[in-house]
Amino acid sequence: MWVEVEIAKHGGALSFHDFMELALYHPRHGYYSSSRPRYGRGGDYLTAPTASAWYAAVHRHWLIRLAAVLGPLTVVDVASGDGSYLAGLLERETASFLDRAVSVERSDALRAVQDERFAGAAEVVPSLQEALPPKSAAVLHLSELYDAMPVHRVVQRDDGLSEMWVAAGDGNLVWQERAARPELGDYLRRHGVSLESGQIAEIDLHACSFHRRLLRWAGVRAAVLTLDYGYPAGRLYDSRGRRSGSLACYREHRLTRDPLAVPGEQDLTAHVNWDDLRHAAEAEGWHEVGLYPLAELLVRAGLTEVVEECGLGLAAEIDGATYRNRQEIKRLLDPDGMGSDLKVLVQAGPEVAELVAESLGNPVPPPSREAGSEE
Ligand SMILES: C[S@@+](CC[C@H](N)C(=O)[O-])C[C@H]1O[C@@H](n2cnc3c(N)ncnc32)[C@H](O)[C@@H]1O
Repeated sequence: MWVEVEIAKHGGALSFHDFMELALYHPRHGYYSSSRPRYGRGGDYLTAPTASAWYAAVHRHWLIRLAAVLGPLTVVDVASGDGSYLAGLLERETASFLDRAVSVERSDALRAVQDERFAGAAEVVPSLQEALPPKSAAVLHLSELYDAMPVHRVVQRDDGLSEMWVAAGDGNLVWQERAARPELGDYLRRHGVSLESGQIAEIDLHACSFHRRLLRWAGVRAAVLTLDYGYPAGRLYDSRGRRSGSLACYREHRLTRDPLAVPGEQDLTAHVNWDDLRHAAEAEGWHEVGLYPLAELLVRAGLTEVVEECGLGLAAEIDGATYRNRQEIKRLLDPDGMGSDLKVLVQAGPEVAELVAESLGNPVPPPSREAGSEE
């Protein structure tokens, strides 16, 4: 198996973090290195932009409203996958609300798919650092970026915190435990978390610094919408809800719990600690506009108006197309699924926070704590 060769190259064992990095992003065998669609209906799982074109349509409506007060926008889709979100925004001829469309995607194969799809209508780059920072007001959209980032996996033992490693066994992969590196214990202490004996947890040591760099790149006239599965630390690490951590694997729309099975052939994902992104905003002097369930965000962004404008409202004729469209919208709003499980954290830079909050029907957000703390 290719992964065993990689493990042997690294001395016979890898931290789970490095194993996850390989399983998802190995340039040849990694899950996201394939141009085969990984998500969407023909893939392994649905994301909001691939579940329904109505997702981007509602965003488009909101962005037009925002551009009316902020001027034409730079819209950046970070971790853009197959490009469905920007494709939805660019769909109609009149995209005058857009100054620039930028798509950031790490996977070479997916960027190639997008180059063909956009044919120059959007800049497609592998990292934010390779795009010029925005000159106009900007909106950054991150759908399931942080839950696709490699995490460390720890388990609390009676004699201390252990880190989980992956080693090659007799024809299979096996878990190993080693004393956890000090940063992992520091992370839990910083978030006020103490794990129970036997409790497993995933930790992304880099989410906060990554988010800070992203906010800095975006500038003070920008909003960032982060759509993801997650909880604040107190809930994410609560042993009553997640004694085995949040790590999950998806293949052909089925959830499994063996992350070591079929490396490169299944998605591996762990929930986001929203507090990491909140700390990033506080440190950069940004404001939190709100953390909303997806359904609420879409309603605040103008879903009802979009439904009426498109003739799908109460007065609509019930034909096949109306029914199908309404079913698609319901999928995004599903209170037992995406509509409530997926959350959207909206953060805004100091110069536009008030306008962004108003555009989502919110009171003015309170000022954030002192900017400029150490990373
Ligand atoms: C779960 S998919 C989500 C795709 C898309 N946003 C959607 O919602 O349909 C995660 C994507 O993030 C990309 N990705 C992961 N880390 C990245 C990074 N640091 N910069 C850009 N893209 C990244 C992966 O290659 C993958 O395409």
